[in-house]
Amino acid sequence: MRPPPVLSRVPPAHRATTANLGAAYPFLSSPGLPGDGVVIGADCLGGAFRYDPFCLYGAGVISNPNMVVMGQIGRGKSAFIKSYLWRQSLLGRQAWVIDPKGEYSGLARASGVEPLRLEPAGSLRLNPLDLGGSRAELLEALLEGSWGRPLSPRERASLDVAIEAAGEGDGPPTIPLVMEALLSPRPQAARALCTDVRTLQEDGRDMALELRRLVHGDLAGMFDAPTTPGVDLSGPLVVLDLSPLYHSEALGILMTCALAWLAAFLAGGPGRQRLFVVDEAWAILARPGVARWLQASWKLSRAWGVANVAVVHHASDLAAAGNDGSEATKAAQGLLADSETVVVYAQPPGEVESSAAWVGLTGAEAALLPLLRRGVALWKVGRESFLVEHVMSDAERAMTDTDAEMTGGGRGRERVEATR
Ligand SMILES: Nc1ncnc2c1ncn2[C@@H]1O[C@H](COP(=O)(O)OP(=O)(O)OP(=O)(O)O)[C@@H](O)[C@H]1O
Ligand SMILES: [Mg+2]
Repeated sequence: MRPPPVLSRVPPAHRATTANLGAAYPFLSSPGLPGDGVVIGADCLGGAFRYDPFCLYGAGVISNPNMVVMGQIGRGKSAFIKSYLWRQSLLGRQAWVIDPKGEYSGLARASGVEPLRLEPAGSLRLNPLDLGGSRAELLEALLEGSWGRPLSPRERASLDVAIEAAGEGDGPPTIPLVMEALLSPRPQAARALCTDVRTLQEDGRDMALELRRLVHGDLAGMFDAPTTPGVDLSGPLVVLDLSPLYHSEALGILMTCALAWLAAFLAGGPGRQRLFVVDEAWAILARPGVARWLQASWKLSRAWGVANVAVVHHASDLAAAGNDGSEATKAAQGLLADSETVVVYAQPPGEVESSAAWVGLTGAEAALLPLLRRGVALWKVGRESFLVEHVMSDAERAMTDTDAEMTGGGRGRERVEATR
């Protein structure tokens, strides 16, 4: 290109590190993301960092509103989610949270609502089959998740006719009704499949016995009846507290039932813009059928006006259920592909390579991961990257504190005082 006429020649470009340039031009800052949004904290290249999935979707920066948050234990993933939901609620956004550790009660209290607590034989029951269209997919996912293998064509067909028979009553079918229909199929169901009742019964028996666990076994009393009347979903925040089941090896199955029940209401038609958080989502992703089901509901986010958020520890959680190329790995890859915002907190050195590959980090970004301190994360939003320190107010810090037992601020402190 020819130099402009006032210059006899173009001066050589000056190169400097961003640290030096920051000193030379102290009032320059990162342009951040376009549009409005809640403030998350400080952009490490200067300025405040704002983020809003709905605005960014509208501006064409991202093509889906979903987010995956990953990071080592105790790095501030849940603290970020809690303050993010709190700030979004000030803009009128509603949030629904699956809370396996029972740690969102502070946020719920601040929002003026009580968490919905699920426990075996407790007072709350939710019917995961409230959702019309995808009952078969949900039960298939639960069974495949328990067995670690796909259903056979015979099993799938007998499940379909059982769901149909269970839905012939007044309300939506329930898991006990599906179980009964599997154990005692009707002659017309057998005829529809050109078989006899005895064969159909045999085809469905294993499935009935597996579902029996949710009806009579250790997991009874939560998902085995019509939904308890009067459950209020209109508040600014709905928290499903699953903490009594946190140590159950069936946690993923139970989280999926809870998710399916909430999804029934999300699908109920366009409403307010909502955020839907699955904390500790690794428990779901560890089960192949269930991971695929989660991916399918992730895909519906735009139609439902929902921004989904999944919280995991490492990228390897996403592939926990299978080897490379397995169906589970593909489902997890799909989930990540359908989450155009990925927030990566510190990762141990052994996890950096797989996180970088899964998330698509550059070498420089990957090298940062083991060095990030608590509360600092690498944000990948569409094609852009930001290094962001999450900043909280004192009130938010009190609401998000999960260190009370470690620091003596909670029951630990009460015990210390009691012994004085
Ligand atoms: N940005 C921050 N500023 C101040 N304190 C923070 C920040 N982020 C997190 N903390 C505090 O660190 C503690 C651990 O955070 P948090 O529970 O969010 O971790 P986590 O990554 O969700 O851990 P886990 O994987 O065990 O669920 C909390 O007490 C929280 O209040
Ligand atoms: Mg957490």
